[in-house]
Amino acid sequence: MSLRRLLCKLIRDRSLTYNVLKTRALSSQSSDRSSDSDTSRQTHFGFQSVNEDEKWKKVHEVFETVADKYDLMNDAMSFGIHRIWKDIFMARLAPTHGTKLLDMAGGTGDITFRYINYLKNLGPAPDNKSSSVTVCDINQAMLDVGKVRAQRQGFTEACGVNVQWLCGDAENLQLPDESFTAYTIAFGIRNCTHIDKVLEEAYRVLTPGGRFMCLEFSHIPNETLQWVYDQYSFQVIPVLGQLLAGQWRPYQYLVESIRQFPNQEKLKGMIENAGFRQVTYENLTFGTCAIHSGFKI
Ligand SMILES: C[S@@+](CC[C@H](N)C(=O)[O-])C[C@H]1O[C@@H](n2cnc3c(N)ncnc32)[C@H](O)[C@@H]1O
Repeated sequence: MSLRRLLCKLIRDRSLTYNVLKTRALSSQSSDRSSDSDTSRQTHFGFQSVNEDEKWKKVHEVFETVADKYDLMNDAMSFGIHRIWKDIFMARLAPTHGTKLLDMAGGTGDITFRYINYLKNLGPAPDNKSSSVTVCDINQAMLDVGKVRAQRQGFTEACGVNVQWLCGDAENLQLPDESFTAYTIAFGIRNCTHIDKVLEEAYRVLTPGGRFMCLEFSHIPNETLQWVYDQYSFQVIPVLGQLLAGQWRPYQYLVESIRQFPNQEKLKGMIENAGFRQVTYENLTFGTCAIHSGFKI
């Protein structure tokens, strides 16, 4: 068989698998809804239906497994574009001296480092305007990689921003009410079991006037582009995971979880339901991902 025919066959087979998994996921979701009275509540982990406790463990396992290859894989899978998305995200937040940021699901620190750099570029802070960032993540392994990166890049106390690393669950924060002026969550909310609880907690810990910002994979409104993106996601990303990180499953989960995540309008509605006002969103790279923003007023 020629190489071209072999590749076509591989793509056809994997597309079939994707469609079967997707159909299964949809039917298991409808049977989940019809058995709401079950004691163990079901949710999705990628295209699998699992009970809620199991999802928490599985997500934890995914990031535990990928922690030391996480940054390399981000660059490889997105051709480095995630760096531009994160730069735009920080430019939209536009922090000022005195900002108290909670970088939720902060992982290995990409958003936090951009925040510190942004403040450094503003010049020296007035004495009464100290800024801080709390990097919170459920996974200590991700935070540990972040701490090493922070040291390597010279982000210490001396750079004028107080940095705290905290292991905690976005759905149940051990942090006081109204203690932050900004809350960011980048590529994190999709992995949480109860998005509504995450949003409630974000609202609780923000000061009045505080800003919520979410950067997350989203949905491409154009069917053809979505098809091309699906082919890339389902055929290439897990293969890259296997080649570069020696792991297939976590990257299969990644692409499946993106498909399961609410679209731009739905997420906007959820943010409004949590009490945020002036909720807007901006699509990046045709809607591959989106920045949502809202204020506690
Ligand atoms: C894709 S990484 C994003 C890391 C970082 N924000 C970035 O943009 O590179 C997702 C992170 O969400 C964290 N996470 C998943 N569920 C969480 C939860 N319930 N509470 C806090 N962090 C969570 C994972 O441990 C992981 O570090």
